[in-house]
Amino acid sequence: MKCTATCSFGLESVLAAELKKMDFENIASENGRVNFQSDLTGIAKANINLRTAERVYIELANFNATNFDELFEKTEKTQFYSFIDKYGAIIVNVSSVSSMLKSIPDCQSIVKKAIIKSMSYYYKMERFPETGPKYPINVFILKDNVRIYLDTSGSSLHKRGYRKKGGEAPLKETLASAIVQISYWNKDKILIDPFCGSGTILIEAAMIAKNIAPGLYREFIAEKWPIFKNKEWDKTREYFESKIINDNIQKMYGSDMDKDMISIARQNARSARVSEIIEFSVKDFKDIVSLSEKGIIICNPPYGERLEDQQIAKRIYSDMNIKFKEFPKWSKYILAPDKIFEEAYVTKADKKRKLYNGKILCNLYQYFGSK
Ligand SMILES: C[S@@+](CC[C@H](N)C(=O)[O-])C[C@H]1O[C@@H](n2cnc3c(N)ncnc32)[C@H](O)[C@@H]1O
Repeated sequence: MKCTATCSFGLESVLAAELKKMDFENIASENGRVNFQSDLTGIAKANINLRTAERVYIELANFNATNFDELFEKTEKTQFYSFIDKYGAIIVNVSSVSSMLKSIPDCQSIVKKAIIKSMSYYYKMERFPETGPKYPINVFILKDNVRIYLDTSGSSLHKRGYRKKGGEAPLKETLASAIVQISYWNKDKILIDPFCGSGTILIEAAMIAKNIAPGLYREFIAEKWPIFKNKEWDKTREYFESKIINDNIQKMYGSDMDKDMISIARQNARSARVSEIIEFSVKDFKDIVSLSEKGIIICNPPYGERLEDQQIAKRIYSDMNIKFKEFPKWSKYILAPDKIFEEAYVTKADKKRKLYNGKILCNLYQYFGSK
């Protein structure tokens, strides 16, 4: 089966590397997605174990269409019955960019009718009760190319289930994990986040250190589909459960000046089952101390979305530069908005990487420590 995992723009190579590590084949990146080949067990594996993907889809059809008739005829030819149960509740979502087919409600209703027609040939039924499991069908139309995808994840994969509360500006779990993977951190190196907020960066790093599959303790929409008849989900969960590491993991350290955030971070770490390896404390970043000669700092300091807050953010960035001089051999990875950071932090990064934190365009400013 041809499958696709979606991700935030800029994270495609991280996601592709994850898929490669998991032995998937025919991996090919596009903007905001990575295609790969998979069987049903692979779908369970991808959903449970991918750290940077937002959703995992099965590609059902891929064709060009410039009018409603073409859309209907080509959709009708798709073998929906191979995946969708006769009691399935079919939910169609369409997005269209730079295409002749512009009206979303019309496209939605045409695709739905074509699916029902196609299923009625196979199941020999005129009407479908739609009382069974849910099947979200996502139709992406881009420059007249129509791709019909079946969403196997349901709620987005960044929802690991451990975050009970987020605080004001939490990083998405998938982005936090990607930043950790981009850095040269590994579980033997000391890791500090001096602006840890709700703890996302450290919790994601700790899950990597303990080899906890990020989706191990949540559900996926495809689990209820009858095509998974060989306990693929249970077996995959058992497999990943058996791979968790509990010993010899270097402690990591998170601090934030806001005590409420630290209590949220502690709570989140407990529900992610990593609290024993993260030490959180209430602290201004200017008071952190270097615990060893080398290590890694990963953080996303305040952004200052409003103008008056930007002045505060700039002040923090310039103080960070002074403070981080006490960590000369450490690597630093700082996610911050474009321009404002560079102006205030002054020291030129060894490498920059464009990333989106939600809709905010940021850079991951990378300063490499000594080896
Ligand atoms: C963008 S948020 C970090 C969000 C975090 N990565 C998460 O996922 O929840 C920035 C954090 O910096 C903290 N902060 C602001 N000024 C600080 C300072 N001087 N020292 C330490 N923490 C500070 C804020 O309380 C806030 O939690």
